[in-house]
Amino acid sequence: MTRIGVLLSGRGTNLQALLDQVHGADAEIVCVASDKEDAPGLRRAREANVQTRTFPVDSFADRDARDAAIADWLEEERVDIVVLAGYMAILSPQFIARFPDRVVNVHPSLLPAFPGMRAVEQAVEYGVRVFGVTVHLVDDGVDSGAIILQRAIELPEMSDPTEVHQLLQGIEHELLPEAVRLMARGAVSRDPANPRRLIVAP
Ligand code: GAR
Repeated sequence: MTRIGVLLSGRGTNLQALLDQVHGADAEIVCVASDKEDAPGLRRAREANVQTRTFPVDSFADRDARDAAIADWLEEERVDIVVLAGYMAILSPQFIARFPDRVVNVHPSLLPAFPGMRAVEQAVEYGVRVFGVTVHLVDDGVDSGAIILQRAIELPEMSDPTEVHQLLQGIEHELLPEAVRLMARGAVSRDPANPRRLIVAP
């Protein structure tokens, strides 16, 4: 079965969606790592008997050393796919190079609009009326990798980022497991005619 490693920094509701919908069925979540020692998401992993490890940046010489240690652990655990489920640090190009086209991220906007931090706040401040979620492969840029799945939601009257984010999280909890299932099945490939584009087999 496809082996998944998850990185998170926060509550871990996306990890929970993966545990509930994918784990033990389409793929196995074998380990969960966090840059934050107090990330509540780690508890969800432990409750599901998934091993966890924390990699606080101040325990390493620098960010690259931290990322190398995370990559070493994921390789030791023979992880096939790395899922960033609310992982709020940027990974080094060396990390990405060790898992080419095998790192998946969920982002609460319709990329390429509003990459980076505070995506929902940015979108609300901008005054958009259509919000959305993107699940994409991670490359060296910030939220710039090829898109696996996207879903939009019209919220023309909403101006509270917290409320918008809550609605988007409902979408994330469907879209991320679906994307991970597709990846695990080998249904996602690069379009030879345009490598920016992914072909997603039904
Ligand atoms: C999610 O909404 C995810 O889209 C966002 O962090 C949240 C984590 O929630 N990620 C980013 O903004 C990445 N740039 P969770 O800890 O409850 O899964």
